Amino acid sequence: MREEIGYVHGYTVREEGRLYDQAQTLAELLHHDTVYGAGERILEAGCGIGAQTRILASKNRRTRFTSIDLSAQSVARGREEAELLGLSNVEFQVADVYRLPFDDDSFDHGFVCFLLEHLRDPRGALSELARVVKPRGTMTIIEGDHGSAYFYPACTESERAIKALVRIQAEMGGNSLIGRQLYPLLDEAGLEDVTVSPRMVYADRTRPKLVEGFIRDTFTAMVEGVRDRAVSMGLFSVEEWEKGVRGLLRTMEPDGVFCYTFFKATGINPFK
Ligand SMILES: C[S@@+](CC[C@H](N)C(=O)[O-])C[C@H]1O[C@@H](n2cnc3c(N)ncnc32)[C@H](O)[C@@H]1O
Repeated sequence: MREEIGYVHGYTVREEGRLYDQAQTLAELLHHDTVYGAGERILEAGCGIGAQTRILASKNRRTRFTSIDLSAQSVARGREEAELLGLSNVEFQVADVYRLPFDDDSFDHGFVCFLLEHLRDPRGALSELARVVKPRGTMTIIEGDHGSAYFYPACTESERAIKALVRIQAEMGGNSLIGRQLYPLLDEAGLEDVTVSPRMVYADRTRPKLVEGFIRDTFTAMVEGVRDRAVSMGLFSVEEWEKGVRGLLRTMEPDGVFCYTFFKATGINPFK
């Protein structure tokens, strides 16, 4: 059953593949330092199909994960994959980050990856997460920022296509420039000792896994996903859009370069 949740990337099989590719390509960059203690309980919100969950749960076998998402379809996929991988330290549940079905202080830590950028009220989500995480527990938030994408050779249509994605996501209530805002968001949420670690993807021909895994399978695939909306909103003709996509793929050639920055923020939940 397909669900109608207002989410810019949608729930297609193609998008599921993109989320897996993205998570695998970025696993080391984003998660090399995501380490939890034995017996600790982690709440992962907005887990989708569990693309990050499987990385975290494999790295932290003695930690217990509860991974929630609004989409029943994605949660079912995540559960299926975790079973196939023999990950017995994860439970998947359908839930809304704004109304978590857990008592106060139920978890040792909270974890979120690529969720706040899709929410109308990221502050409300952070405050609900802080409610269910114990005092002195950590909150880890990873988000991208599409304004951080730059590349060589230049292509005007590619730059316009990225701006179209930013605009479409904003019109759906999200904010794909949220990475740069994580420090003030976590600080205003009352978290202590907030630190933000920018994680830059730099891809040129000497890094073929990033050229394919990031430029083609993560970033260009994501931009391509809003093609129909961009054209129907009159932001692009089909020809211009195709030129924009070709311009992004052109950066995969031997003289091409692509840069993008993710932001990984952590903070400590205060005493309530
Ligand atoms: C870009 S996906 C990220 C999935 C996963 N974290 C990953 O990195 O692969 C964003 C997810 O947030 C979920 N989502 C959106 N609004 C939500 C809400 N209010 N509560 C819980 N999940 C939500 C969507 O269903 C989607 O699966």
